Amino acid sequence: MAGNITLTMIKPLSVEKGLAGPILAKINEAGFRIAALKMTRLTQDQAKKFYEVHKERPFYKDLVAFMTSGPIMAAILEKENAVEEFRKLIGSTDPSKAALGTIRALYGTSVEKNAVHGSDSDENAIIESDFFFSRLERH
Ligand code: RTP
Ligand code: MG
Repeated sequence: MAGNITLTMIKPLSVEKGLAGPILAKINEAGFRIAALKMTRLTQDQAKKFYEVHKERPFYKDLVAFMTSGPIMAAILEKENAVEEFRKLIGSTDPSKAALGTIRALYGTSVEKNAVHGSDSDENAIIESDFFFSRLERH
């Protein structure tokens, strides 16, 4: 059975541009419930750990640099089939290839600076939610 949570990060450039509000509005309009939310800035070690699966990829170093360049907003989102539904809402990794009206098409600037993160599996949604939030921070 599909899980009902996913983890998103509103990436540093989106926060810097004041896009957290519009992005959260899109998330609400799409029927997700925000179960946890925080603004934080990832340390080098935290960003390296979060993106560990990509550590052999050529873009890893740049990705870690970008993700630590400023504050992000992390949130746990609830909806039936949350992982897949949220990836539909955000669109393809490359904003120029993302479907019209998706968050990445609307607010992304490049493959790397693509506005938001979304978990890619139910298993990772749980791991990533635990990475950011304690029990007391979930509502
Ligand atoms: P995300 O994990 O952020 O939701 O993105 P995704 O699943 O669509 O893409 P993934 O393959 O997991 O890549 C993670 C993040 O790495 C950056 N990236 N840069 N320069 C590049 O070719 C490249 N490819 C990926 C992006 O920031 C992507 O979101
Ligand atoms: Mg991914």
